[in-house]
Amino acid sequence: MLRTARSIAHEVGLDAVTPGAGAALRLLAAAGNARGVVEIGTGTGVSGVWLLRGMRADGVLTTIDVEVEHQRIARRIFAEAGFVAGRTRIITGRARDVLPRLADGAYDLVFVDAEATGFTACVDAALRLLRPGGVLVLNGALAGGRIGDPAARDAETVTVRETVKAIRESEHWIPALLPVGHGLLAAVRC
Ligand SMILES: C[S@@+](CC[C@H](N)C(=O)[O-])C[C@H]1O[C@@H](n2cnc3c(N)ncnc32)[C@H](O)[C@@H]1O
Repeated sequence: MLRTARSIAHEVGLDAVTPGAGAALRLLAAAGNARGVVEIGTGTGVSGVWLLRGMRADGVLTTIDVEVEHQRIARRIFAEAGFVAGRTRIITGRARDVLPRLADGAYDLVFVDAEATGFTACVDAALRLLRPGGVLVLNGALAGGRIGDPAARDAETVTVRETVKAIRESEHWIPALLPVGHGLLAAVRC
């Protein structure tokens, strides 16, 4: 089923999380006994299934994507994976428009898997949405291997580099870079 979701993602031109990154997401959700999770970038539902598998049985995944067609596929994948509709809250819209509507301190984990240029706004939102001890996870923290190359100055790499630096230097986060998939930057909210 996850293989199907990954192959549909490939067909529609999306980069779904790798099995290694998915396992890390499931682990983080389970370690935090996560009941409320926010995902930015539903895609075809690959990462959502991994998160749901790590969350509490009564947990709800709030997943946001600007593309209704991606979410239509994800909805089917969630059902085929055995999750009843009440386990997911699927919201169509841009992250910057939807995140302000979500409640403060109500979430255990925030997973960001959308365009890197929106990272700063998502990190700011996560600081507000997460309970103390909750975890932020940013996908793509290795910027395709360019993160450590000082010659790489493209907009995406610069944004990722600046976001990682800001989180590392912030008193609000305890971060660690997990070198799985495209790199997961995980950070516990202090
Ligand atoms: C890499 S795909 C997500 C893959 C998914 N997490 C998975 O592993 O199956 C990125 C998704 O983010 C969505 N997206 C891009 N920019 C967005 C934004 N500003 N707000 C919400 N969704 C966005 C895209 O439509 C796309 O479906």
